Amino acid sequence: MLPVELYRGEAALRGDREAVLRRSWQFVGHESQFAATGDYLADVIGGAPVVVVRKADGALAGFHNVCRHRAGALVADGQGNCGEAFTCRYHGWRYALDGRLRNAVDFGAANSPKTNVGGEHPAIDTSENGDHDPLVQGLRQLGHQVDLADQSSGLSAIIRDVAGWVGGADPRREGLVMGDTR
Ligand code: FES
Repeated sequence: MLPVELYRGEAALRGDREAVLRRSWQFVGHESQFAATGDYLADVIGGAPVVVVRKADGALAGFHNVCRHRAGALVADGQGNCGEAFTCRYHGWRYALDGRLRNAVDFGAANSPKTNVGGEHPAIDTSENGDHDPLVQGLRQLGHQVDLADQSSGLSAIIRDVAGWVGGADPRREGLVMGDTR
C-alpha cells in the first residue's frame, strides 16, 4: 500500500517540485504556437510562473514571468503576442524579448531636500505649520525639511458598496486603504 500523504501531502508536493519538476524539461506548448515574434505562452510549471516567447531572431526563450520591480506578472497566464517587448501590467516596466530590462517608468519622483508627509492625511496635524504633530516634529529634529502640502499622486480609499469595490489606489504608493460601507 502507498501512504496517501504521497498523493496529497504538502511535503510530497514540495519534494516533487524540487526533485523532479524543476530539474527536468517540462512541456509548455508546441512550437507552432509561437509562429510570430512576440508570441508567448505563460503558465505555472512546478509552482513557478514561466513565460516562453518567440524572439526577433527566431529563437525561443523562457523566463520566470516575474517583474524585477515588485514581482508583478508580466503577462497573464495563457497565450498572446506582446509585440517587441513585454510591458509589466503593474507599473509598466518594459523588457526586451531576451529578458533584458529596456526601460523603467519614470514615476515622477524627483530628488528634493523636502520630505512630503502628505498634509491631506487625517493623522497629520498641519495646524500651525505642523508644530504640534509628533511625526513632523521628529522629522525636523532629524534635519528634514518637511513639506505639509497635499500630495498630487495620492492614495485613494477603496470601499465596498452594493455595486462592488469602488475607488482606486495609486500603485506608486504601493498600498491602499480599504473600508467597508456595510
Ligand atoms: S511590478 Fe513590474 S513595473 Fe512594478
